[in-house]
Amino acid sequence: MLRHAEKATCAFYDGLPMAHRIALIGGDGIGPEVTAEAVKVVRATGVAIETTDFDLGGMRYLRDGEILSDDVLNQLRNYDAILLGAVGTPDVPPGIIERGLLLKMRFDLDLYVNQRPFAGTAPGHVTPHDFVVIRENTEGPYVGEGGVLRRGTPHEIATQGSVNTRHGVERCIRYAFELAAQRERKHVTLVHKTNVLTFAGDLWQRAFNHVAAEFPQVGTAYNHVDAACIYFVEDPHRYDVIVTDNLFGDILTDLGGAVSGGIGLASSANLNPSRTGPSMFEPSHGSAPDIVGTGKANPTAAILSAALMLEFLGENEAATRIRTACDTAPTGSTTEIGNAIAALVAGK
Ligand code: IPM
Ligand code: MN
Repeated sequence: MLRHAEKATCAFYDGLPMAHRIALIGGDGIGPEVTAEAVKVVRATGVAIETTDFDLGGMRYLRDGEILSDDVLNQLRNYDAILLGAVGTPDVPPGIIERGLLLKMRFDLDLYVNQRPFAGTAPGHVTPHDFVVIRENTEGPYVGEGGVLRRGTPHEIATQGSVNTRHGVERCIRYAFELAAQRERKHVTLVHKTNVLTFAGDLWQRAFNHVAAEFPQVGTAYNHVDAACIYFVEDPHRYDVIVTDNLFGDILTDLGGAVSGGIGLASSANLNPSRTGPSMFEPSHGSAPDIVGTGKANPTAAILSAALMLEFLGENEAATRIRTACDTAPTGSTTEIGNAIAALVAGK
């Protein structure tokens, strides 16, 4: 398992660049289309990758019932990274693929940080913003704690717990501070709802204060999540790094996409920063079944997710080249955008 840590610093073997081993999950809907463009762009950087396709997602589930068996999960553990397009199809009831595939990967591979960068010019603004949301990715209301009693009766009860462990919260917050310490503005905002969710909020606030004391060079702030929604639209420039819980982070990052050029540009990294296994990279958008095969899907979010992957694998120069190419915002069909970015990245 040390392989992953070693790979980041030791990309050569016998004088030849060692190929990063990437598990590809194109998935459903537009997932395979945008993933193909992302792989094309990665190859254009010259970074050596070796890919293996994994047929997973809603369509696979409908075909033979496989969602993500322990056997397949164990195969995924042998890769350096997982690149995912999108999963989910309208023919499968909500929750099955989300919980059985996406959340299973996040939980079982301990992908405890969900890093979502946002750069762009929000509607009504003239200067661009540049901030990153660090979303806790293995706890909160996502753990599936709770249950239903007397379903379908007038006395039905549904409970849905939120789990917040000191260990889980603190490691996520520490990651946010470590990231902020490397950034120019060196600032972290905690976003929560400490005025209502007093138990979880108190734990988050104390863990935040504890970690902040280790980073005297990093400035801090706190926003309630409802206020943060206003600031995302009215004053996104105030943010550098934001750290927040799983569900707040889910909602806030869709808003982040909406004020940063749209969900077609929103990239995401599900990270296991301790590198005990592969991390998973995916665009934030879904499978968009309504536009499959039309060429309308913007592959930029998938391409930028691949840039996050390369950065995590230690290929910083290639990642920067991809970001610079994406900044030119080429237009056209899925393939035309992918080709234009690939050509820029290759320097052609
Ligand atoms: C996301 C998605 C997922 C989430 C869904 C598909 C389970 O919305 O990655 O933001 O809620 O985390
Ligand atoms: Mn979401």
